Amino acid sequence: MTRPSFRFPDGFHWGAATSAYQIEGSPLADGAGPSIWQRFAHTPGMMVNGDTGDVACDHYRRYREDVQLMKALGLKGYRFSINWARVLPEGSGRFNPKGLDFYSRLVDELLEHGIAPNATLFHWDLPAALDDRGGWLNRDSAYWFAEYAEVMFKALDDRVPRWSTLNEPWVVTDGGYLHGALAPGHRSKYEAPIAAHNLMRASGAGIQAYRAHGKHEIGVVFNIEPKYPHSDSAGDLAATARAHAYMNQQFADPALLGSYPPELKEIFGDAWPDFPAEDFKLTKQPVDFVGINYYTRAVVKHDANAYPLHAVSVRQPNRTYTETGWEVFEQGLTDTLSWFKGRYGDIPLYITENGSAFYDPPVAEGEVLDDPLRTNYLRKHLQALHRAIAAGVNLKGYYAWSLLDNLEWSLGFSKRFGLYHVDFATQQRTPKASAKLYAQVIESNGAVLDEDA
Ligand code: BGC
Repeated sequence: MTRPSFRFPDGFHWGAATSAYQIEGSPLADGAGPSIWQRFAHTPGMMVNGDTGDVACDHYRRYREDVQLMKALGLKGYRFSINWARVLPEGSGRFNPKGLDFYSRLVDELLEHGIAPNATLFHWDLPAALDDRGGWLNRDSAYWFAEYAEVMFKALDDRVPRWSTLNEPWVVTDGGYLHGALAPGHRSKYEAPIAAHNLMRASGAGIQAYRAHGKHEIGVVFNIEPKYPHSDSAGDLAATARAHAYMNQQFADPALLGSYPPELKEIFGDAWPDFPAEDFKLTKQPVDFVGINYYTRAVVKHDANAYPLHAVSVRQPNRTYTETGWEVFEQGLTDTLSWFKGRYGDIPLYITENGSAFYDPPVAEGEVLDDPLRTNYLRKHLQALHRAIAAGVNLKGYYAWSLLDNLEWSLGFSKRFGLYHVDFATQQRTPKASAKLYAQVIESNGAVLDEDA
């Protein structure tokens, strides 16, 4: 009997991802305005250990060195995000050429090394000046975003072949507007649906701007976490449907179907507005691809005390959990891709993030740091991805999260997701064993995964 082969289709796009606030440092350099993350991180009590993005991986100054790391992996693509307030310090109006210049130099450096840039316009760092005007609660946010998007398309679309409007709008609203653990730190069930809706209006307006000014591909990136019921009880099944609608459909539905799933009204009650029907013309714009960020699954149970979903996740016995408390469950990746295709049709898909935080020491000894748990996570998820392709999912590429250990938002530097270890005291980068595996995967286009099927 021949063993299964994990060789990927020719031309499969292998990449790695990062985001601006998590790696760049120098947040106010060269005339940049503050973002809401700059403010949040400098508010006492918001960040683990008082960490901030003031230096982070110092990528703003070391980007050339970091492109060398990408080159060593053999990456075909690099997904990064643009800090809006570097380019438009007040979010709208005044343009800061020096801020744009950083991204222009980064793009040139990537192209020079044969790495295709994939730029995300918004990975959570809203300009603080726009937050002062209501941020995502203000309906004008869609137009502010389109104005910024247009500036970026005009400047870089000649060299950037792939764009995304937003990264994970669910996290922005759940963390930033409903539960408050992320910037801007609000806690309101009345605000969260409005922010969510305006984010999707903004994404639509950004895509419209792209059709007028861009020539390549644009999409949007969602985090999808499949939900499995804890039992067959009616209560658990309904709780699972609510959790699924809230996290996995609240953003993809208006973008791809032009409507909201009915469970949202059930969850939010009087806090769920009657959105104008007109808005869905804006939210539902044709996309060239969708990016899916996959990390874990949830097993869901009804809980009358859980606000506002009346649903909680149940920890599974005898399973491996990462340092962020996420179950390692690669089957969920295959299931997610099949579900997405079934619900939204045969849109080209990318896994735009996938990775794991496991403990690594702050200082790496030796030339390669052994990280068996992360290496295993990577291997298993790539095999699961291959199974999805074999089942007919139109998957074009994969971006590992993350190129470097970085600032894990309000968890600071306490969680390490990198293929490269970063010593935050010296900025020394050291490859981990997972980076070595990933380089072999890229080189063999997946065939190396056969060895441990
Ligand atoms: C985000 C990243 C984050 C990662 C790990 C995603 O939610 O897009 O910025 O670091 O997951 O939590």
